[in-house]
Amino acid sequence: MNPAAPVGVLDSGLGGLSLLRVIRAQLPHEALIYVADSGYAPYGDRDTPWITARAAQIIQFLVQQGCKAVVIACNTITAVAVAALRPSFAIPIIAIEPAIKPAAASSRSGAIAVMATTRTLESASLQRLRDRYSGTTRVLFVACPGLADHVEAGDLHSPGLLARLNDLLSPALEQGVDTLVLGCTHYPFLFDAIAKVAGPDIRIIDPSPAVTAEVRRRLSAIGALNPGQRITPLTLWSSAPLQRAQALVERLSDLPIQLRELPELPAPTA
Ligand code: DGL
Repeated sequence: MNPAAPVGVLDSGLGGLSLLRVIRAQLPHEALIYVADSGYAPYGDRDTPWITARAAQIIQFLVQQGCKAVVIACNTITAVAVAALRPSFAIPIIAIEPAIKPAAASSRSGAIAVMATTRTLESASLQRLRDRYSGTTRVLFVACPGLADHVEAGDLHSPGLLARLNDLLSPALEQGVDTLVLGCTHYPFLFDAIAKVAGPDIRIIDPSPAVTAEVRRRLSAIGALNPGQRITPLTLWSSAPLQRAQALVERLSDLPIQLRELPELPAPTA
């Protein structure tokens, strides 16, 4: 495995930039290739066979770009497809998932809520994660259909968004949750809006630092951490029209990212 090879990162859209910026900050010598499948977002409304087939094509694309590992920066892909995807690829696949374990372990009120897409919350894998790590803490699921679309549209704090967040979060807040677990990579971009609605006493947990630590561990375990001293390039391939992607990337990130148009991948047959 060539340590100078890039790490691939994929998401249904630009939400995964919230994880990419943490990987960049913690592992600045890793070249990163990000695929934002914005042309097909949101995945949260699609079925499992489609998500699995599409994610497999994108990972294959990243393998062809020479990636030494792939990071799934989409909780929805992790929840419904990662178990089926892993056996098809020889490189490590590191997958984000909601930080239920640390949130449940440190809740003082004994109740936490996970915000995620409906598809993620309905998945057997997330329900297993909850059963395994909730202990005596109550874990509420708050499905947030349409929330990622606000981010894809560049809307991070409009009055309409705040009203929607209020509708989504009020029932959980009334039940005494003290922690909100962000279970979709788009939501860290809504951190300020969520904090405004939830109030100052509620903790909001983004798993990106934990996932980045796992990326470091996995690369190190196979001798593939890039020992270089150079700041390496960031490339983003988007399946949305480039002009739209460019405007949004600039709104969501101040990293120097080179944008490319994702070539047409064969249509998922599933
Ligand atoms: N960013 C994705 C996630 O983490 C989902 C957004 C979507 O529905 O496409 O789940």
